[in-house]
Amino acid sequence: MPPVLQTKICDLLDIRYPIIQTGMGWVAKPELVAAVSNAGAIGFLAAATIPPKEVETEIKKIKALTSKSFGVNFLMDAPGADVISDAIIRQGVKAAGYNRAPSAALIDKLKSAGVVCVPTCGAVKHAVKAEALGADIIVVQGGEGGGHTGPVPTSLLVPGAVDAVSVPVVAAGGYFDGRGLVSALAYGAAGIALGTRFLMTAESPVPSATQQRYLAAEVADVLITSEIDGMPQRVVSNELVHRLESSSILTRLVFALRNGLAYRRLTGASLGELLQSAFSMQRNERLTRAQTLMAVNAPMLAQTAMEGGDPVHGYLPSGTVAGVLSDRPTCADLIARMVAEAEETLERLAPSPPA
Ligand SMILES: Cc1cc2nc3c(=O)[nH]c(=O)nc-3n(C[C@H](O)[C@H](O)[C@H](O)COP(=O)(O)O)c2cc1C
Repeated sequence: MPPVLQTKICDLLDIRYPIIQTGMGWVAKPELVAAVSNAGAIGFLAAATIPPKEVETEIKKIKALTSKSFGVNFLMDAPGADVISDAIIRQGVKAAGYNRAPSAALIDKLKSAGVVCVPTCGAVKHAVKAEALGADIIVVQGGEGGGHTGPVPTSLLVPGAVDAVSVPVVAAGGYFDGRGLVSALAYGAAGIALGTRFLMTAESPVPSATQQRYLAAEVADVLITSEIDGMPQRVVSNELVHRLESSSILTRLVFALRNGLAYRRLTGASLGELLQSAFSMQRNERLTRAQTLMAVNAPMLAQTAMEGGDPVHGYLPSGTVAGVLSDRPTCADLIARMVAEAEETLERLAPSPPA
């Protein structure tokens, strides 16, 4: 393999290829995470949609499927964040991923235990703050990326972050192949992180009715909406988005309250813990009260589509890449293909001199 593909994150995370599968709620489950890690990249378990007390069991499932490095992605301001970080440490998980509201205390605790800290940021100023808080690697996700996303395109965010921080930067938002990997390296990144591409693989647990929506999507169908939870999210547009767009404030509030109760059942959190988490989110994300109330919609509506297989009533977080993907390879085939494409691209850019 060309040395240029062996970047600092390969050493830090003890992986063969500089490729990360990101945490995706209801999608990045043990089988997907292990398949990615077994193929030489690194998978992250999405813990934000698992009851905190069950995260350790899911970690053990991954360990039964792979001996390779993997990570756990969670929300540091959600109820049970301490339970999850304790499980990460106890189980010797290689890396922890997080994004909004990073907690200095939790980061210190994870780092003291040797866990590699890998936050995701959507703006250069957040990457600078993440480095100051102790990040070992920073994933920066440009506006093309799936789920909650910012306004800065990947092509501007990646070089900006590379110039602003000294820890390795990993590029995310819009990647799907080996040419993209080489382009990220050319910007100075140390690898790429992909969500939607791994959602569309053979090991993805997403039911086929929902996967069909991703396969059928055109780039123009993958839009940003704030209707789901009050914050900009990139999604494959569907009936739910259209319905929310045309419903009254009262209907939306009742909808959010119903999802709030379901979220409380999922996390096992007390009302006090949920309110504390809501206030912290309101403060950190500068949300209005209505936005904060709507925030509980996202996990439950994603579950409807991603676990329930109902792409009409659930929502479909997605990067723009869904518009160009038309296959569901195994993770091993996908990663081998990306590495081969990267090698071909490097060869094309700098052909070996004739013998
Ligand atoms: C279906 C789906 C679910 C996601 N869920 C989460 C999540 O639970 N937590 C999180 O931090 N990011 C989540 N994201 C964002 C991804 O982790 C990742 O940053 C993004 O998908 C990268 O862009 P890409 O889809 O263009 O590869 C999700 C993205 C998708 C597509």
